[in-house]
Order: sequence, then C-alpha cells, then structure tokens
Amino acid sequence: MPVNLGKFEERVRTIARSAVERMMAHGGRCDFVADVALGYPLHVIMEILGVPEKDEPRMLKLTQELFGAQDPDTARLKEALSPEQFGSMIQAVVNDFGAYFGKISADRRANPRDDLATVIANGKINGDYLPERDMTSYYIIVATAGHDTTSSSTAGAVWALAENPREFAKVKANPELIPGLVDEAIRWMTPVKNFMRSATADTEMGGRKIAKGDWLMLCYASGNRDEEVFEDPFTFRSDRKPNRHVAFGYGAHLCLGQYLAKMEMRILFEELLPRLKSLALDGDVKMSQATFVNGPKELPIRFELN
Ligand code: HEM
Repeated sequence: MPVNLGKFEERVRTIARSAVERMMAHGGRCDFVADVALGYPLHVIMEILGVPEKDEPRMLKLTQELFGAQDPDTARLKEALSPEQFGSMIQAVVNDFGAYFGKISADRRANPRDDLATVIANGKINGDYLPERDMTSYYIIVATAGHDTTSSSTAGAVWALAENPREFAKVKANPELIPGLVDEAIRWMTPVKNFMRSATADTEMGGRKIAKGDWLMLCYASGNRDEEVFEDPFTFRSDRKPNRHVAFGYGAHLCLGQYLAKMEMRILFEELLPRLKSLALDGDVKMSQATFVNGPKELPIRFELN
C-alpha cells in the first residue's frame, strides 16, 4: 500500500537512475525492452522479495518460460507440443520455481530478514505454515507478475511516446502529467489480457444471460478499449481523465502490486524524460506471442539527449 511504499521510494529512484544511465551509455540507440524495461522492475521486485542479484537472470528466464510459453523465442521447448506436453512443460517450470524458493524458505525460517520471502516463509494460518503449494504460488506470482507486467507497461509508454512526438513534448513540458502517462500506458498495454471467473448468481450483463456457475472470460484488454467508458479509446492520451481502466483487475483479487508498479514507472519517467530531447522508433516493434500475459519483446528506439 502507498503508505508502506514510501520507504522504498529513494531506493527505487536509485535503481531507476542506474537504468537510465545504462540507457544513455548506449549512445542514442537501444532496444528499450532488453536494455531498460526488463531489468529495472526485475531488480526492484527481487530486492523486495529477497532474491540475490546473481539469480535475477534465472528468474527472468523462468518468468519468460511461463508467460512466453506460446512464443518460440522464449518457450522452454521449441517443438510443436500436444496439450498434455504443453501442460507438462509449464509444470516443469513451476517445479523449478518451487525448488528454488523451497531453499529460500528454509533459509528464511532459519535466518529471518527484512524481506518478503521471510514474510511468506514464516506466515502461519491457525498455527501452521502455509502448505508448500500455496507458498510456491505466492512466490511465483510475485517473482513473475511482479516485474513482467511492469516491464511491458513501461515499454508501452516509451512505444506510445516514440510514435507520438506531440504527446512526448506535452509530457516533457508538463511533468505533472507523468502519473497520467503511467496510467494510460497501463491501459494501453493491458499486459494481463484476461482472467477467469465463475458466476456466483444468475444475472444479466450487456443483454446476455449469465447463469450461476457459468465460466466468464474477463477480457481486460477489450474492457480497456470500451468506447462506452473511454472517450476516443484508441488514442493514447496522458491527460485522460478519468482513466478507469481495469488492467489491474477488479474486486477481491485486485492487483496487490498496483501501487508499486505505478510508483516504479512514475520514478523512471521522472528520471528519464528530462534527459531526452527526442525519441523515435528505430525499427519494427515485436510483441511476445501469448494469450494470457504479454507485451513488447523488442522495441528499437533512437533518442537524442538534452
Ligand atoms: C502494470 C503492472 C501490473 C499489472 C497490469 C497487473 C495486473 C494484475 C491483474 C490483472 C491481476 C488479477 C486481478 C484479478 O484477478 O481481478 C493481478 C493480481 C496480482 N498482482 Fe498484479 N499487476 C501488475 C503489477 C504487479 C506487481 C508489481 C506485483 C508485485 C508486487 C503484482 C502482484 C500481484 C498479486 C500478488 C496479485 C494477486 C492478488 C490476489 O489474487 O488477491 N502485480 N495483477
């Protein structure tokens, strides 16, 4: 929650500054995904979780094997798979996460620290530690959704600004628009495309009858382009107000990391925009192939410094 996040703000700014310095060192051209967007939120969340820096590449690879399982560039197995083989491939990735975090949990029970792994490892319900499967699930959601989504949204913002020089100039001249830029980028990319729910009661929505027990596919990406909610939904507008997007979900499972994600993005753009004189695409943008969670996987840009 925002009140607890305040204590991370300065540290996140330091990490953001070194990400910006690394980008500047590329001298005017880079792949914003590989060179900035992937590493920055990864480092922030791994520090909060308590994963040592040397293991960050492994966490990134496992995340991409999970979310990018349908993409030949990132899938663990590249050949055509039957649904059963696909399921086993995903399970193998989950098992690798489980084995890694099993060791972290054992360590944090013996040597508690001020990190999120210590909270997960030592959390108890009715006097018992969480079942291993639940614990692994918590670790996995933080170690995957805790950076991949934020990377995609950050890259989405740069993509939109690179394509819209007027929008770039507007936000640069009015830094108070940065929180709006962040929210609009999250709406624009909607990195989590869908989730499932089952109806708890008979109801009707948009003229369609939904029966209790029916499965519903919540298409956040579609909801975020709903012309009944958003004026001019296919236009990127950092000054969009209100911006009631559903990229973080809705209700009981609303994203736990939304304030962290927004803080990370805000700080990065506060550090980056004053350094840039211009920004443009420098080739084709490539999206990762996935039906659940995705975003840009290559974003070649050109930039001039102030
Ligand atoms: C722009 C970045 C992010 C987006 C778009 C995003 C999106 C989402 C969505 C759509 C859900 C499911 C909501 C639902 O079922 O109603 C979710 C849940 C969750 N997210 Fe995020 N997320 C982002 C960043 C983060 C970060 C940085 C963290 C890590 C701290 C995180 C941790 C979680 C957790 C733990 C849940 C599960 C909440 C629950 O089931 O109660 N997310 N997120």
